[in-house]
Amino acid sequence: MASVLVVGSGLAGLIAAIRATDAGHTVTLVTKAALPDSNTRYAQGGIAAAMFPDDSVESHLVDTLRAGAGLCDPAAARVLCMEGPARVRDLIRFGVDFDRDESGVTRGLEAAHSRSRVLHAGGDATGAAIESALVATVRERAERALTLPAGTDGAGPRLLVREHTMLVDLVVEGGRVGGAILLGPDGELQSLTADSVILATGGAGSLYPHTTNPALATGDGVAAAWRAGAAVADLEFYQFHPTALAVPGTPLVSEAVRGEGAVLRNALGTRFMLDVHPGAELAPRDVVARSIAHEMAGQDGAPVLLDATGLGRELLEHRFPTITAACRKAGLDWAAEPIPVAPAAHYWMGGVLTDIWGRASLPGLYAVGETARTGAHGANRLASNSLLEAAVFADRAVRALGVSPVAGVDAGADTVHGTMDSRHAAAPSGRSPRPFADRDGIQRVMWQYAGVLRSGEGLAAAATTLAGWNRPATGPDADPRLDMQIQAYEDANLFDLARITVAAALGREESRGAHYRSDFPSSRPELAHTVALSRATVETTETNTEAEEAIAC
Ligand code: SIN
Repeated sequence: MASVLVVGSGLAGLIAAIRATDAGHTVTLVTKAALPDSNTRYAQGGIAAAMFPDDSVESHLVDTLRAGAGLCDPAAARVLCMEGPARVRDLIRFGVDFDRDESGVTRGLEAAHSRSRVLHAGGDATGAAIESALVATVRERAERALTLPAGTDGAGPRLLVREHTMLVDLVVEGGRVGGAILLGPDGELQSLTADSVILATGGAGSLYPHTTNPALATGDGVAAAWRAGAAVADLEFYQFHPTALAVPGTPLVSEAVRGEGAVLRNALGTRFMLDVHPGAELAPRDVVARSIAHEMAGQDGAPVLLDATGLGRELLEHRFPTITAACRKAGLDWAAEPIPVAPAAHYWMGGVLTDIWGRASLPGLYAVGETARTGAHGANRLASNSLLEAAVFADRAVRALGVSPVAGVDAGADTVHGTMDSRHAAAPSGRSPRPFADRDGIQRVMWQYAGVLRSGEGLAAAATTLAGWNRPATGPDADPRLDMQIQAYEDANLFDLARITVAAALGREESRGAHYRSDFPSSRPELAHTVALSRATVETTETNTEAEEAIAC
């Protein structure tokens, strides 16, 4: 049995920890804040799975591939749709109470699904319901593990939970990941050794000023993997949710609201989506987000309106209690009047390149959930496939621990092509008197140039601006206060990720899925995935050969 370090406590990390203890491994679960603090908690719409008699895995797969705009790895998408129902049943076993009516489990419709297949809990509190059931399971196991005699083999699985502990970097020895450097709640850096590390740190919504993610979503796992030398892929594909409430904090207004019949109107009261796509408000997410951005540009940046008044107060309050509360907090009564909405950064299709077993390109390293780029989502994730992906691939990663602990996905495999100009990703020297990057600056650049609508000119300007900043200084010498240390490590991660994301977006001279460039408005199907190797690889290669060879195709 192996020692396993799981980093992150959303659905993916919690499932990984639970399944790894089931398998008899010794597990340490570390998480940056308290155990329940994660992106999962904010998920509303639900979890999509072919669980109903009028549905099929094939139909779910077709919808997933169509949304992915030709960039899905079909094997990953098939695994997602095939194993999804079993993983949803696991969640029910772990105590998730999906909403029901007299005919059984109820289901919602979301954009680009050909039928209703989205299970939800607590109305629009699906993520919170999943998170609290899994946290209870993990806490119960961790408490039980504490009562076992130390070091008694076979006495039962060990599970140690360390909250308020941040991943700083991965430890690589002999080309293999063998643990991590962590920043503990005492402000000390410590090294933890493990046979395998499973990254489940979520996405990086904090790259943008407007996001549906909590502030802790700073891409820590993706950045650390990249620095360690693992391949990361498709970072240019960041999904913007069309409808975040346009108030401070930009809370999510679930697509399920449009699934129930709410419509979008511009400042003149016109339903603009009718002219854009046959699916109207339920067109693919990227189409709706871009249309809203265009409408906003034509009305001096003012948000568009989501009109849910036709649904009636009772349905809104019962089916969407979280959104109703967010509206109330903002002084809005959405049963009586349309509410202002605008796109916000929501989900990263890119991430640590993995195979369909969650294995990264470095032996000993696994990535699951939003941290991973399994290929299941392609250029644009289908609504409510994210919780499903987390559950399916966390389970598979744990199964792979025992089967093939030293294999890694091949970053140069046939399925992976594309180019990225590494000059934009190269790290600044640090010796010049440049200003240090800060979060506001990074977010401003990313929103303006690498947001919903992009252009080559804008992305080049972003690359130049980022290259003119020094990476934020980290460590106790920079500032010994714990909160400032955490923030500095987060900002440094965001800076690394902003640079490679902009470089990837600049390299992708087409529009596809969530990546839209006004200078290349058409899709170029011959372009496939973009893979970025680590900064260390870039720097080493740059001194020896041509920079363009450093970022692989
Ligand atoms: C939503 O409820 O609209 C979000 C669902 C998702 O991101 O899949």
